[in-house]
Amino acid sequence: MTLTAHQGEILHCLEDPSLHGDAAWEYFEKGLLLIEDGYIVSCGAEDDLSEQLPQDVQIIKHEHGLILPGFIDMHIHYPQTEIIASYGARLIEWLEKYTFPVEMAFADPEKAGSMAEFFIRELLKNGTTSAMVFATVHPQSVDVFFAEASRLNMRMVCGKVMMDRNAPEGLTDTALTGYEESRDLIGKWHGKGRLGYAVTPRFAITSTPEQLASVGRLLSEFTDIHFQTHLAENPEECDLVSEFFPDCRDYLDVYDRYSMLGRRSVFAHGIHLCDREWKRLKETDSGIAYCPASNLFIGSGMFNLEKADLHGVRVGLGTDVAGGDSFSMLRTVNQAYKVQQLQQYNLSPERLLYMSTLGGARALDLDRYIGNFETGKEADFVVLDYAPTDLISLRLQNTSSVMERLFVLQMLGDDRAIRETRIMGNRVYAKDAR
Ligand code: GUN
Ligand code: ZN
Repeated sequence: MTLTAHQGEILHCLEDPSLHGDAAWEYFEKGLLLIEDGYIVSCGAEDDLSEQLPQDVQIIKHEHGLILPGFIDMHIHYPQTEIIASYGARLIEWLEKYTFPVEMAFADPEKAGSMAEFFIRELLKNGTTSAMVFATVHPQSVDVFFAEASRLNMRMVCGKVMMDRNAPEGLTDTALTGYEESRDLIGKWHGKGRLGYAVTPRFAITSTPEQLASVGRLLSEFTDIHFQTHLAENPEECDLVSEFFPDCRDYLDVYDRYSMLGRRSVFAHGIHLCDREWKRLKETDSGIAYCPASNLFIGSGMFNLEKADLHGVRVGLGTDVAGGDSFSMLRTVNQAYKVQQLQQYNLSPERLLYMSTLGGARALDLDRYIGNFETGKEADFVVLDYAPTDLISLRLQNTSSVMERLFVLQMLGDDRAIRETRIMGNRVYAKDAR
């Protein structure tokens, strides 16, 4: 057993700051984070903890930086990495023109494997330690992704896309093969180390009622698996859903009819929802992945976080690469802030920190493992650099509290502000090492 002490400025959330105010977060200007075999032993002020330290403890100093829990990206598509920043289309056209063609290539496990490696390196470089990820329709795209995540011992959730209509040949399964392939992948990967499987119908438009029924069956057969899909992202998509499912009360009702709502279910976007849908999300304890960069980039609309808060729905943040144009959760938090500003809803730095760490963990139902530095949790963390650019250094001279400093990094930071990223205490990315 090896005890390691990380010494530096430490900040993390214990609760949602929008509900618990300043009691929701803890800050240690001279802090220690004690880690044994990848798990947090304690987190606190150096003055309080240094007495308990054994003589031979390894001390790692992090100066002029800020230690935070690793970022959690609740919604992202690894096969879309190479079409990030594709020009000029909104959702349906964007899918047909850019997304479907590139996903086709993931039938080849070698191609998929090299993209999975690139993608995970990019996450780590941006301080993201866990994500909920779409693969493609090909089961082998999930195999290579989980193999790479498991090599680095990351807590990751991923699933094979299910699509049995309204998609090109070569990207479709059937109600039966989609069911069988998902079931086999669950058996192979779910609960293996830190990995979790998510049943992943792309969205209501690309699945027949038969396939949606098979999704419901999987969720009833495997009660602790995750579920992810898209919901009410774009007006044209919403119109198509009401055309395809005229008997359903609204978009969410399509998923509800097939028993897809629940504590381990994550719906990406949720921009165009009525009050009934918000109430139903709350009743079923379902989560939302808010993806502001994507909502802006592909012109989908402005997410109403105030509504989600009024209904008490759990919300985390996603980059939604490649609808989103950045892997950086700092960039994502910047866009979340601005989109809420436009709606006269002010987001504090601590709330933004919560949404990118513990809030995401809660919305994924993984907060017993990750999200903050509570004793017993897995030690995934990042060290932000207080001097990544001349402008940030200059601006930080005009701050007097950690929240002011955090806000500057949230608004001006990107991958350059990530000094290092650690998974279960192990350093897996260091900016200096490049
Ligand atoms: N809706 C259905 N598929 C997708 C996708 O790949 N990206 C986004 N942003 N929305 C979707
Ligand atoms: Zn998406």
